[in-house]
Amino acid sequence: MSHSVVLIPGDGIGPEVTEAVTRILSAAGADIDWVQHQAGVAALEGGEDSVLPDSTVNAIIEHGVALKGPCTTPIGDGFSSINVALRKKLNLYGAVRPIRSLEGVATRYENVDLIVVRENTEGLYSGIENVITEGVITSLKVATQVACQRIAQFAFEYAVSRGRKKITAFHKANIMKLSDGLFIRCAQTVHEEDFPQIEYEEQIIDAGCMRLVQDPGQFDVILCENLYGDVISDLCAGFVGGLGVTPGANFGEGRAVFEAVHGTAPDIAGKDLANPLALLMSAVMMLNYLAASRNDATAKQAADRIRDAYNACLLAGEKTHDLGGKLGTRAFADAVIAELNT
Ligand code: NAI
Repeated sequence: MSHSVVLIPGDGIGPEVTEAVTRILSAAGADIDWVQHQAGVAALEGGEDSVLPDSTVNAIIEHGVALKGPCTTPIGDGFSSINVALRKKLNLYGAVRPIRSLEGVATRYENVDLIVVRENTEGLYSGIENVITEGVITSLKVATQVACQRIAQFAFEYAVSRGRKKITAFHKANIMKLSDGLFIRCAQTVHEEDFPQIEYEEQIIDAGCMRLVQDPGQFDVILCENLYGDVISDLCAGFVGGLGVTPGANFGEGRAVFEAVHGTAPDIAGKDLANPLALLMSAVMMLNYLAASRNDATAKQAADRIRDAYNACLLAGEKTHDLGGKLGTRAFADAVIAELNT
């Protein structure tokens, strides 16, 4: 079964890691028909008149699935985040970031296996900021019952589908009593009414962070609003080897965009230094999603083969520089392909 998937190379290290990943998927026999579109600075450089062209958004709506490289967002001024805009336009309300220890990647922590579920459409990422008067700015945190309820429902359903046992909601409802208060009340209701079999707990986010770094093994699924989820996913990435090994997916109704947690890594872009593994793991999530949603056993086989191949490479010490190895982006992709062919 062939699948049309929108491919967005993005900016910075994006083209390098997407090239590596598409080569590996092809070598694994994944039957993907890539439909390439641009977003980010790359879109402007390619002659588009916007960093997020309508043609890119419409292609994702048409095909339902995309694999996306990172896109640049200027700091402090300039255009607003393409990533945030894309998630809002496509209503990709649920972000999932699995954080797992990898054999062959030594870190301070062992056997980490948790999932961060992040609300993707509102909170402080509403981007509504106002100059009240000279030197006084407000930034609006938006919480709606619809979105809070929806992400709680999504998190519990995801937990059940993955055989997870516990959800911990991180919040700051002691200070943001109304917005974070609504967030946890919705999670409590969804738990009590629909998922009493899943253990549910809440932690004030500052104390939760302290417990996370003391022992990530206490956590199973962490449910967060938008900003907390963004920060917590990068924090958790540090448990397992960093941003080079942390995949992600954004889900909406009938559509999904798979992308690594990392950004464009301008410090290493164009130098063949980027680790393509985070995007490769995101692509494996994508194949599993295609297998489940379209009942395609060959997509599942390709996903399993790729996971076995990159695990074997890591165990054999075939790693990129960020993990203490010696391989460049292309050489690591070659190593995974060689492993697939053994
Ligand atoms: P970043 O994730 O690009 O880089 C942080 C650090 O991690 C850098 O030292 C970088 O070299 C390293 N790193 C990241 N990915 C790596 C990989 N695959 N292999 C090896 N090392 C890797 O975060 P930063 O510097 O804060 O953001 C750079 C740009 O990316 C900004 O414009 C930001 O807005 C954008 N960004 C885009 C995202 C997206 O498109 N989803 C997500 C996060 C940031």
